[in-house]
Amino acid sequence: MDSAFLVQFAYLVSAVLFIFGIMRMSAAKTAVSGNAIAAVGMLVAVVATLLNRGVVSYTVIIAGIVVGSAIGLVMATRIQMTAMPQMVALLNGFGGIASLLVASAELLRGGATVGDGSVVVPVAIFLGILIGGITFTGSLIAFAKLQEVMSGAPITYPLQQVVNGAIFVTAIGSGVMIVQDPTNMTAFAVLLGTAGLLGVLSVIPIGGADMPVVISLLNSYSGLAACATGFVLGNGGLVIAGSLVGSAGLILTKIMCDAMNRSITNVLFGAFGAAGAASTAGATGGVDRPAVKGYTADDAAIVFNSAQSAIIVPGYGMAVAQAQHAVRELVDVLEAKGIKVRFAIHPVAGRMPGHMNVLLAEANVPYEKLIEMEQINSDFGETDVALVIGANDVVNPAAREDESSPIYGMPVLDVDYAQHVMVVKRSLNTGFAGIDNPLFYNENTMMLFGDAKGMASAMAEAISES
Ligand code: TAP
Repeated sequence: MDSAFLVQFAYLVSAVLFIFGIMRMSAAKTAVSGNAIAAVGMLVAVVATLLNRGVVSYTVIIAGIVVGSAIGLVMATRIQMTAMPQMVALLNGFGGIASLLVASAELLRGGATVGDGSVVVPVAIFLGILIGGITFTGSLIAFAKLQEVMSGAPITYPLQQVVNGAIFVTAIGSGVMIVQDPTNMTAFAVLLGTAGLLGVLSVIPIGGADMPVVISLLNSYSGLAACATGFVLGNGGLVIAGSLVGSAGLILTKIMCDAMNRSITNVLFGAFGAAGAASTAGATGGVDRPAVKGYTADDAAIVFNSAQSAIIVPGYGMAVAQAQHAVRELVDVLEAKGIKVRFAIHPVAGRMPGHMNVLLAEANVPYEKLIEMEQINSDFGETDVALVIGANDVVNPAAREDESSPIYGMPVLDVDYAQHVMVVKRSLNTGFAGIDNPLFYNENTMMLFGDAKGMASAMAEAISES
């Protein structure tokens, strides 16, 4: 059996492992093993590549692996759970710059001019540089917005789309020139500059709160750039891995947009979160609302005394307050009183995919208690208490009832159908969408004003003493 066949076979094995890994990642219980299987697939692909390529110096490669692993290990262990989106943004950016550098190196060493005169390699080099460059600088801006190194507010100016369009056309033009003449260094420089500029200019008009969607899209781009680089190097493993990342990122982007009832064009070009774009005047949006009475943890304990079932709806506020452990203790107290407790998880609760699942898993809440929206929504009508902790938009009935609402049509958790609704938050302030929530003024709603962590602990204490 020749070595070329073995290498291709190894790539096939790694592709199968990637696919099995991704399949297992679709459920929380099997996700960890899915991750491990996909990592083994990557190891197989890396070893096959190292054996196959005409490696000039293993010393340099080993040094790179050691330094890179050390940096990665420190970053991964030190990162706060709430800072995960910016970490992913950085990693996407690294993927983009890696593809750009490989494609550029191949161009500079004359890789596009050799061969049978086919345009596949020059076109792949062009795409690797363009998509890699956009991914790199776009991801850095996404990182800067989330890390608050720069303002998260959308940056808009007149003729923004026209300017971006003109730069894009220039980038395509330089790409065409490179394909025609791969030694054209002016076109190469223009392509590098326009790709980097496009990444910056396409992400600055997007509000910080929409960054998770953008990061998922940039993740998809980093996969496409890697796929293009796979064609440049004639590496089937890279083509397959890049395509999987590209399509997985696109699917996740679509899931997030659907869960917010927004189109990807609205996220990319809508400047959501700009002053006046989504926010309405004051917390009530100018609507006359009855005064809202605040209740205490003791009041909540009285209601729970006669309850048999409760559904907890966590949201962004639980993440901000780091209240997951206090919430877990509250669940223990409720269950000790014989109350059946489950969690309802909205697909975009919080600020990143799976945000609530990760936090609750950290607090050792069993997976079986976390029920997705579609499965649990019809149960609110038969539930004694819906306890909303730091969630707002994802429980806003206006999305169901008010056609003039900016979030009309967004699927929400129907907490208002429960017999009693308790909402834990610090004020009547709006959530991410910047809109009033009529839930707070309903007769069956008790507002428990306070920090999610403090209030969850106070409730646990009051219930266990009652
Ligand atoms: P939000 O609607 O953003 O509401 C969070 C609420 O938490 C706020 O109203 C705030 O009210 C409260 N809060 C903040 N700090 C708190 C604390 N320390 N203690 C208690 N409460 C606190 O959150 P949600 O219901 O989870 O909805 C998520 C939103 O983000 C949706 O609009 C979604 O479309 C958007 N989004 C999500 C994602 C992903 S992937 N998850 C991505 C982009 C956008 P107070 O200030 O009154 O306390």
